[in-house]
Amino acid sequence: MVGEERPAEVKTRKERGCGGWVEAVGGRKGVGKVCRRLGEGWEGLSKGEKELKRAVRGCVKAGKGCSRLERGKCKMYPFGSFTWQAWFINRLIICWLGTEMTVSVTGATGFIGRRLVQRLHADNHRVRVLTRSRSKAQVIFPVKDFPGIVIAEEPEWKDCIQGSNAVVNLAGMPISTRWSPEIKKEIKDSRIRVTSKVTIKIFSATALASPNMINFPFAFYKCSGSSETRVFDEQSPSGNDYLAEVCREWEASALRVNMNVRLALIRIGVVLGKDGGALAKMIPLFMMFAGGPLGSGRQWFSWIHLDDIVNLIYEALTNPSYKGVINGTAPNPVRLGEMCDQLGSVLGRPSWLPVPDFALKAVLGEGATVVLDGQKVVPARAKELGFPFRYPYVKDALRAIMSQES
Ligand SMILES: NC(=O)c1ccc[n+]([C@@H]2O[C@H](COP(=O)([O-])OP(=O)(O)OC[C@H]3O[C@@H](n4cnc5c(N)ncnc54)[C@H](OP(=O)(O)O)[C@@H]3O)[C@@H](O)[C@H]2O)c1
Repeated sequence: MVGEERPAEVKTRKERGCGGWVEAVGGRKGVGKVCRRLGEGWEGLSKGEKELKRAVRGCVKAGKGCSRLERGKCKMYPFGSFTWQAWFINRLIICWLGTEMTVSVTGATGFIGRRLVQRLHADNHRVRVLTRSRSKAQVIFPVKDFPGIVIAEEPEWKDCIQGSNAVVNLAGMPISTRWSPEIKKEIKDSRIRVTSKVTIKIFSATALASPNMINFPFAFYKCSGSSETRVFDEQSPSGNDYLAEVCREWEASALRVNMNVRLALIRIGVVLGKDGGALAKMIPLFMMFAGGPLGSGRQWFSWIHLDDIVNLIYEALTNPSYKGVINGTAPNPVRLGEMCDQLGSVLGRPSWLPVPDFALKAVLGEGATVVLDGQKVVPARAKELGFPFRYPYVKDALRAIMSQES
């Protein structure tokens, strides 16, 4: 899917000039190829290439497909043109191969979910957003940009799942808050509650839909205990702390799903992206010259670029080999101190103001363990499966993120 190389289509278009040649790419190589990378970063693209990408995105968002772009504007050529024929053939192939999916996503309005939905929508898959709040989801996915997306509140979830090929379950109360007993209960309960609802609905849905067509990727926190020296992979035993307990119970509720459903349990590390997660909190501090490592800085930081986790989930949706537990972390975890140094260097700011353990505990309470107790997690299974990480090194990931448009 996504390789190390710079998108070939973009290069081709640049060589030919960004004005009127996109149809050659969208037409001959297929709509999917052009659109597939739209949800990814902007790093390394020239001004002209960015303009082109924006135009293609606009075209896709307008629901017109990528049949033809002229001078940066999308145009449809309904009959007779080579481009239209190529587009039509491409659509037929997609239908014949059955690669067009209907995917239901819980937590779609969140940091990871939003990017996943953009990506699926850009690739012409049908998306169903399972949310607690239709009005919130409608703001995030306006009809003009996401035509055809179904937004469903809980009473409609069953119908959505029933007609889906796959469910991606990302919902859960954020953990990066000060933990009180009530919050801890909700962090766990919210995940198990949504997961149980989804699995129950899959139970009733599979009687009607074709069970082999249902994939079920999940998002999880890493499961094993913390250590400065040990390396954790998918085979490592679960830890004894609160988060490990949340993970165990979360996974257990997912495993209750029908035996004939392909279940991928993706244990996600700290996701790096500009518009959410840990990095969005760190960047302003660094920009104010107040950045530095949290705690000793020696704890391991198992991270993954937002594009890579979205690609991994996407791959799990489409590739039947992706099942069971799969760590969603980059192949080269770093110590938190190194991550902060790299972030400082990318931002042109010093990483000089360490936040001591006691200050973090004062602010986050027990929740401070999330950042203070690191783990060196490796994606053994994803590597075995040959998943092509686009950002294996944190420095490249940070550079790419900082050069991205929001
Ligand atoms: N971001 C990371 O670095 C990271 C790392 C490891 C694991 N994960 C896991 O990956 C999943 C997605 O992460 P994210 O960063 O995209 O999360 P997020 O931005 O916090 O979004 C999670 C979504 O879950 C739903 N939600 C929030 N509180 C809920 C509650 N109390 N009960 C039920 N649903 C609730 C919301 O969707 P609606 O309002 O539309 O229902 C929300 O948009 C989460 O389960 C998270 O634990 C994330």
